[in-house]
Amino acid sequence: MSKLAIDGGQPILDRAIAYPWPKQRPEWSERVLRQLKSGQLSIYDRSGVVAEFEDAWSMAHDVPFSLVTNSGTAALHSAFYGVGLGPRDEVLCPSYTFFATSASLFQLGALPVLVDSKPDGSFDVEAAAQLITDRTKAIVITHMWGLPCDMDAIVAFTQRHGLALIEDCSHAHGATYGGRPVGTFGDAAAWSMQTQKLVAAGEGGVMCTSSREVYDRAQLLGHFNKRAMKEMDPEGELYPYSVTGHGLKYRAHPLAIAFAVGQVAELASWVKGKQGFAGEIAELFTRIEGIIPLTLSTGDRISAHYALLFEADPDVIPGGRDWLVAACNAEGLDDLDIPKATSPLHTLHLFQNPISPVTTYDRPCIRARFPVADRLAARTFKISVPCAPAGYEEEDEQYLTAVRAVVEKVANHLSGSAMRGQG
Ligand SMILES: Cc1ncc(COP(=O)(O)O)c(C=O)c1O
Repeated sequence: MSKLAIDGGQPILDRAIAYPWPKQRPEWSERVLRQLKSGQLSIYDRSGVVAEFEDAWSMAHDVPFSLVTNSGTAALHSAFYGVGLGPRDEVLCPSYTFFATSASLFQLGALPVLVDSKPDGSFDVEAAAQLITDRTKAIVITHMWGLPCDMDAIVAFTQRHGLALIEDCSHAHGATYGGRPVGTFGDAAAWSMQTQKLVAAGEGGVMCTSSREVYDRAQLLGHFNKRAMKEMDPEGELYPYSVTGHGLKYRAHPLAIAFAVGQVAELASWVKGKQGFAGEIAELFTRIEGIIPLTLSTGDRISAHYALLFEADPDVIPGGRDWLVAACNAEGLDDLDIPKATSPLHTLHLFQNPISPVTTYDRPCIRARFPVADRLAARTFKISVPCAPAGYEEEDEQYLTAVRAVVEKVANHLSGSAMRGQG
């Protein structure tokens, strides 16, 4: 058995491998170039490539309104303002997510109240129920790593308590629950289109809603003047503000949207392509005793597999998750990593000491314990799942070959040492 690179052996890969994303289709670059040459580098109203993207997004989700923004954070902020959240309103929010899921609430003076998760990282309505107060107005959920939350339970919960529901779908472009796309279950939803995301603009975001009122308010936040004036209901109470908005600008760069617009039509086939590869990668890793995949699709919940999350049991694998990731990285598999950016929000200063530019808080964000989020943070690692878009099958196969080689080497090493241990 060959020695592991982490122990001084020869790495099995001759160069470091990470999954290349986004792919670079010539049509997308041409679209960017056409946009550049058109000289239309700001789009002030709902027209051009922005309208094209929004129409495609609305159609893919069967919703009447989509709003392109310059980041996922801006899309979330627009959604929160859109549903009417304001000072001291409380919003139940997972601790196990990226902080941008709820951080823009501070800009509205609303307060995220942190909730523990289920073992697969999804929103736990039972934990949330313990945290409802007279100020609770909404919940925001994240479909972590692309796996849809249990939307039946969540929708029933919000209806029971009269709460608004915002979906953070930044990991879950094209994921479905019971055949229906995520982002269509609540009052508003937001997606990031940052570089690594499944639909990638470089920087960008999109919000969608079925509510005219939410859409109008959301436009007011970051799309003042031409767009808000043309799009908002002139009879609406807030219409007189349409020329200025409230002081923010969230318009996206047309070149970024021009890069992303062609991706929307491919999304469904990518998500489909990922299903088989996720199964194969899970099968490879579970050859290692003590590894459990957490975010595979189930019958109802079809993951977009932004990444596949695994738990490593430190009682079975000597050195636990940290050793396993370091061992795979040393063999050249850079793609395997510990999702540090998603450190649970209850460990972050902002949520431990909440401040807002628009209000003072008299209650904390942290009112519970988070054993599941802590366990996820301590034990999990993630890996990209390829989708083999047409024309990139070979590139994706190279990535898979690298994953197979590394995982097999590490698995053989571990089973060999276990057998030596038994003998
Ligand atoms: C779950 C989640 N929510 C929100 C965001 C924020 O998106 P953006 O970086 O586009 O502002 C991200 C992006 O990294 C994310 O992963």
